Amino acid sequence: MNICVIGTGYVGLTTAVGFTAVGNKVIIVGKNKKKIDKINKGVLIIYEPGMGKELEKCVKNKSLQATDNLEYAIKNSDIDFICVGTPSREDGSIDLSDVEKISQDIGKVLKSLNEYHVVVVKSTVVPQTTEEIVIPNLEKYSGKKAGKDFGVCMTPEFLREGVAMSDFMKPDRIVIGEYDKKSGDVLQNLYSGFDSPIMRTNLRDAEMIKYASNALLAAKISFANEIGNICKIIGIDSYEVMKGVGMDHRLGPHFLNSGCGFGGSCFPKDISAIIAKAKELDYEPILLESVMDVNKKQKVRLVDMLKKRVGNLKGKKIAILGLAFKADTDDIREAASIDIIKRLKSEGAIISAYDPKAIDNMKTLFPDIKYAKTAKDVLKGADACLVMTEWDEFKKLSENDFDFMKKRVILKGRKMLDDIKGSEGICW
Ligand code: UDX
Repeated sequence: MNICVIGTGYVGLTTAVGFTAVGNKVIIVGKNKKKIDKINKGVLIIYEPGMGKELEKCVKNKSLQATDNLEYAIKNSDIDFICVGTPSREDGSIDLSDVEKISQDIGKVLKSLNEYHVVVVKSTVVPQTTEEIVIPNLEKYSGKKAGKDFGVCMTPEFLREGVAMSDFMKPDRIVIGEYDKKSGDVLQNLYSGFDSPIMRTNLRDAEMIKYASNALLAAKISFANEIGNICKIIGIDSYEVMKGVGMDHRLGPHFLNSGCGFGGSCFPKDISAIIAKAKELDYEPILLESVMDVNKKQKVRLVDMLKKRVGNLKGKKIAILGLAFKADTDDIREAASIDIIKRLKSEGAIISAYDPKAIDNMKTLFPDIKYAKTAKDVLKGADACLVMTEWDEFKKLSENDFDFMKKRVILKGRKMLDDIKGSEGICW
């Protein structure tokens, strides 16, 4: 099929490269000329293992092109995917202004289109958005009728950063929320080559499935951290506990890893958005608020442990191993390392940090801390080391690499390096 993907962020790029890789022709639409030029040169503008090769291939065989011309893209496609950002406002509620604006712009193009065309919302939007914002603007600006002159669907994206391509190509499920059966059939046909179960439902159910999925995943993490903190006080390894818990088929072994909490561009944003939406509806989401509270405290728990081990932090040299919110990404959004650096700075510590991919991003937030070129360099003369990201390269550090530290205080926010003398886990 001929597909128009609107948005050049993680979801837009992955959707464009993924659909191209399975034989479709894709035009990806963005506003940033520099990003568009880079994509048209086959240069990946995000760090995503394995996607660069795929992008290069589909630009070379002309099955993928990037443009800032929305009208051209829509007029040369049968189906549009809205993949624009839905960032958080100050109060945590979702900012839908980009979704509203693009719905208007698509409506203006649909006005002069004669063939049936399907508009698909893939951006993460709170329930009722497609019915209350997208469809009214499409109809108003096109003068046409949804379900009659054009189709509308909502299909959430469940990709994880660092494994975006494999998550797109082999999702656990494909959820198709449809306004009308015909547009649902078009989308089902597009996904027919995917080896994943397809669930057909309505628009707002599809919207909520995304939020409920992320909220439950995040709740599992906060649950693991709460139990992990209790285990730590008693002297129990929470990973042993969760290994036993996860053997219950009803609970499963995944997302029960305690640590320094969850970061990333999705969990914090999406859970804050659904909390705000619930409150808008006069409902108090106590459990979801607790998930966020546990996480907020967990992110800086290592600093309390650090002070117990080294005392006053003023003037102490603290090494930070890992800045990205998780391994295999350069993304630092909501990373625990940000909260840690803020706390350490406020206590007068001297910070040096290393990360294989995320240093440039962290420099935009903290240009004044020292950044090392290697993991070993960051350890030299350190009074303590905090391990914040589970990069594989850190797992290769040996006993004598840590001998260069002034004191062997190694506190870990992610499960690794357990055999290193002087190391201690946040929950194990
Ligand atoms: C998440 C969801 O997994 C994905 O389905 C959704 O589409 C987007 O949000 P992502 O944020 O990319 O994906 O990363 P994920 O691998 O889920 O990790 C999120 C955070 O949780 C990371 O900070 C990670 O370190 C943390 N985490 C994950 C834990 O602390 N414990 C776990 O057991 C799993």
